[in-house]
Amino acid sequence: MKLKVSHILALTLLLAAPSIQAQHTIPEVEALLKKMTIEEKIGQLNLVTPGGGIATGSVVSSNVEDKIKAGQVGGLFGISGPEKIKTAQDFAVKKTRLGIPLFFGSDIIHGYKTTFPIPLGLSSSWDMELLKRTAQVAALEATADGINWNFSPMVDISRDPRWGRISEGAGEDPYLGSQIAKAMVTGYQGEDLMAKNTMLATVKHFALYGAAEAGRDYNSVDMSRLKMYNEYLPPYKAAIDAGVGSVMSSFNDIDGIPASGNKWLLTDLLRDDWKFNGFVVSDYTSVNEMIAHGLGDLQAVSALSLKAGLDMDMVGEGFLTTLKKSLDEGKVTAEEITTACRRILEAKFKLGLFDDPYKYIDKKRPAKDILKDENRALAREAAKKSFVLLKNDTKNLPINKSSKIALIGDLANSKDNMLGTWAPTGDPQLSVSILQGFKNVAPNAQITHAKGANITDDAALAKKINVFGERVTIDKRSAEEMLNEAVELAKKSDIIVAVVGEATEFTGESSSRTDISIPQSQKKLIRALAATGKPLVLVLMSGRPLVLEEELALSASILQVWFPGVEAGNAIADVVFGDYNPSGKLTATWPRNVGQIPIYHSIKNTGRPQLTSEFEKFTSNYLDAPNTPLLPFGYGLSYTEFEYSNLNVNASQINQNEPLIVTVSVTNTGNFDGEEVVQLYLRDVVRSITQPVKQLKGFKKVMLKKGETKQVTLTLTPDDLKFYNSNLDFVAEPGDFEIYVGTNSDATLKSSFTLK
Ligand code: BGC
Repeated sequence: MKLKVSHILALTLLLAAPSIQAQHTIPEVEALLKKMTIEEKIGQLNLVTPGGGIATGSVVSSNVEDKIKAGQVGGLFGISGPEKIKTAQDFAVKKTRLGIPLFFGSDIIHGYKTTFPIPLGLSSSWDMELLKRTAQVAALEATADGINWNFSPMVDISRDPRWGRISEGAGEDPYLGSQIAKAMVTGYQGEDLMAKNTMLATVKHFALYGAAEAGRDYNSVDMSRLKMYNEYLPPYKAAIDAGVGSVMSSFNDIDGIPASGNKWLLTDLLRDDWKFNGFVVSDYTSVNEMIAHGLGDLQAVSALSLKAGLDMDMVGEGFLTTLKKSLDEGKVTAEEITTACRRILEAKFKLGLFDDPYKYIDKKRPAKDILKDENRALAREAAKKSFVLLKNDTKNLPINKSSKIALIGDLANSKDNMLGTWAPTGDPQLSVSILQGFKNVAPNAQITHAKGANITDDAALAKKINVFGERVTIDKRSAEEMLNEAVELAKKSDIIVAVVGEATEFTGESSSRTDISIPQSQKKLIRALAATGKPLVLVLMSGRPLVLEEELALSASILQVWFPGVEAGNAIADVVFGDYNPSGKLTATWPRNVGQIPIYHSIKNTGRPQLTSEFEKFTSNYLDAPNTPLLPFGYGLSYTEFEYSNLNVNASQINQNEPLIVTVSVTNTGNFDGEEVVQLYLRDVVRSITQPVKQLKGFKKVMLKKGETKQVTLTLTPDDLKFYNSNLDFVAEPGDFEIYVGTNSDATLKSSFTLK
């Protein structure tokens, strides 16, 4: 079947105003719906995977070919490449009665074959244009391989570094998270979804998945509406406002009802309030999992989900196998099935699949578009901009390119651990190891390498980590032998660079930890290296904030590099040897210990705030640790220094709906050119509900030559002063506000204004 685009106008409207999620009916889709049987409609609601990629649950669909031909499949995921996709699309287009084309979905979380840093790393760049460009390249490469639908961006706010999936998001802050959500959606979907190099994006996991209790994956979430609206929902809403085509429901429950069957969430909020008009796909078997949540059998939970507003069932086949029965028994209506089907067909229409189901199938494209030099160059740029310099007191970084360097650590000579979690479409073997990167960037340096220690000595843990490939290898040599070898090299060097931290899959799905410190084997190594008295630089890899007090004390410098992606080694070397001055800033607070979690900058004051750093009885504090984090949100050093002065506001009083212009002078007082992320925090002094001590409400990344001063302007919009009050009305309340501007969330340079 081929539908002609006779409604170019309607479509142009749809695409021209992606932020207005208004309802339109598409005549071609309505005509098609009229021809469809109820079974064919139910078929469209079924998303299957024939395997391949990463299966994140136990289910892999069977008889996929037969099901497609029987009109029982709306989309496939886990397959790629023009040939395979053409074969599957042929089954749908040529062998079914109505020839409705399939979606081809995939998890392209941080790049397709050109793997960029993990999302938590990318977020640390605070560079929205850069993030958007990575999404554009991901879309270019994925569509070249036939994929038209991406299960990204993941925008779950997380304030709990125990949670393994903190690595997949943008950290703790709703303001920054919202900017990133928008950048990613517009990057993937572009200006024109009909183009061949853009794809449908999915915002996930709707909703609140990052607030899983105790950081344990898939765990329950219980949260007040106020907290949801003010702190956790904004990034999803930003993605909807940016025109995202689909939404993925999350695994967790909300107010006692799992997201995939939660009508308040999927209909009242998402569609009625937010005017979302795309389709909602479940997470992997999340409909079926409502059985384990205790909400009924497969038929009951499938009906509940459909009625709640879920449109497509990912791999669980509850919709496929039970909805007809539920219809016959009056438990769902034909209208509900048609509505879900309409939303899916409309999305296919918006992608142009009805015009040309083979539009992403071009055998020449993979070689032309995938892994081309400029894509890899962007991966290198993104990686170096994602790194955060945590310590450099003695200025041991950058290192002279002709130094004698002991490069220590298993992670220093690993390709398997460079891509990070959720990179199933990437190939670790294409990545540049750190050892190789050092040789590329500093060919005159004298570099020796020793493993020094296993990433972990815990064989049981290693087995869990190695589920997708050999990330951790336990050496046959004794720990002592490895350690001694490293110490000997260290003693002969000018400087030690130890690459330490987590392996890939220490974070990611189903990878929560109760102990978020560097594994013991590597801690011993760090102690031994520090004891040599040689300057010790740590290149730290992790997918989460770590507990790092001891290592901060033992080392001269620490560069946090997350999991940098395919250009890892080159990008790290660029920064270590000073070709690029680090500019990343933390997007999640680093705790002193696990007991401080959840920890984040926008905390509330309480009625008994601890006013000094001294312990004071009957104030809100701990007996055994300070309240302050190890490293605050927004923190990150540079090889140069920046000074802030002359903070001004353009008015001491403003009216509602009037913006406030904030200016500040920033001077580069050090010896390197460098970029600084200027951050603006706001405090509403008095309001009708308790408020955070400060909230990020603006930032700008600026480049300053050494000695240069720039006046930086940040604008607070009327919405920036608003919050959801007890009635869940989005309001700004008259009164005094304080502004703090600086280099991180501990900023003290202060100004104020009054809202009339
Ligand atoms: C994850 C999703 C992912 C899906 C499909 C699930 O387990 O939670 O983020 O998109 O699998 O791979």
